[in-house]
Amino acid sequence: MTEISVNGGKRLSGEISVQGAKNSVLPVLAATLLCGGESVIHNCPELSDVETSLKILRHLGCKCSKEGSTVTVDSGSITAYDIPDSLMREMRSSVVFLGAVIGRTGKAVISSPGGCELGPRPIDLHLSSLEQMGVTIQEEHGFLNCTAEKGLHGAEIHLSFPSVGATENIILAAATAEGSTVIHNAAKEPEISDLADFLNRAGARIYGSGSDTINIYGVKKLGGTEHTIIPDRIAAATYMACAAVTGGSVTLNSIMPPHMMSVLWCFKECGCAVVSSGGSVRLTAPSKLRRVPTVRSLVYPGFPTDAGPVAVAMLSAAEGTSVFVENIFENRFRYIDELKRFGAKIKTEGKIAVIEGTDRLSGVHCKATDLRGGAALVIAALRADGESRIGEIHHIERGYDDIVGNLSALGADIKYSGD
Ligand code: UD1
Repeated sequence: MTEISVNGGKRLSGEISVQGAKNSVLPVLAATLLCGGESVIHNCPELSDVETSLKILRHLGCKCSKEGSTVTVDSGSITAYDIPDSLMREMRSSVVFLGAVIGRTGKAVISSPGGCELGPRPIDLHLSSLEQMGVTIQEEHGFLNCTAEKGLHGAEIHLSFPSVGATENIILAAATAEGSTVIHNAAKEPEISDLADFLNRAGARIYGSGSDTINIYGVKKLGGTEHTIIPDRIAAATYMACAAVTGGSVTLNSIMPPHMMSVLWCFKECGCAVVSSGGSVRLTAPSKLRRVPTVRSLVYPGFPTDAGPVAVAMLSAAEGTSVFVENIFENRFRYIDELKRFGAKIKTEGKIAVIEGTDRLSGVHCKATDLRGGAALVIAALRADGESRIGEIHHIERGYDDIVGNLSALGADIKYSGD
């Protein structure tokens, strides 16, 4: 099995460009289904989750092609309305296709996504919202049969939690529904605005994305369009943490600093000099990182849960004791056992991790438990003395486009090993 090998202790320096956002490209690819023509999407990262999305689109009858980071999807003729179980299992976020498939065909069959590595991830908010829009849902043998017999209609929807995926599914279903939809307590993440921007370019009428109330006036038809995916704020945070633990100094280009304010705050608290200008950020780390008393994950614009593992790995090498509180997912600390193999001193209790910083991390053989937990191991390995090998890297490849190439370009001693 292929692993990532790292010889730790090299100070990172230099400049890289950051990939397009994984969490934007997936809903935007789902949205191309609604366009009924050719959509051209630029800045698509090279990720296994993108490949899975293209497999789903092809299964549904779309013609898809890829050249460099540009993906073209022609959804002129749709021949299916189900998402095979194997593809649902490959990528839990394939649930975001639900609203788009129903919006296009009036029905959908998907398997129940069930649990995942972050603990239970229910989709009750997705389903109850679609029901309010005229969808009947029957659960049989682990499959969800969804039908909008009289077509989709607008609704006034109050989300009890501003779920990112549920907000996306409602937007997708509402874009071509009869009448208007209002989402109260909508998610405000930048990826929601990116999806709305794509759909508006295709002819939709979506107002208020980025705020907690989104209004969608259903239109009869959308058309193909061209769109560029926003930069990946979590990948950017990861590369900044990689530089910070090595006492490095790097410039990240092709990013949107306003999307990263809470993350930039965390790096500054650690004693890093962070200078943003336009679409780039320069980070210069001190020789010894400072602790951050408490970091709490919150919905946007709070500290992103996806950057939690990255922050915990970085704080493991800081001076003093830091606390991380995970408020979004129930079971997001599995990677911490792997991080402890490096010598990290972390105690967890429920949603709280207490991190006692140490300057004695040493290289180990470990395994990625999930996508961002895997990134945390890379960060620890860059800091550790000696060689580390990280297995199960398919988790990492779900979300990072060429992480080995990017870190090598910054001077890390990192490579693929095994077959
Ligand atoms: C998306 C992101 C993921 C990120 C998360 C939170 C994608 C592909 N994934 O995931 O990387 O970590 O947002 O920023 O964009 N919940 C329910 N019922 C529901 C839906 C969600 O209880 O119907 C709960 C979840 O269990 C979780 C919380 O709400 O505790 C947040 O989930 P949500 O915002 O929906 O995250 P995802 O869309 O799954």
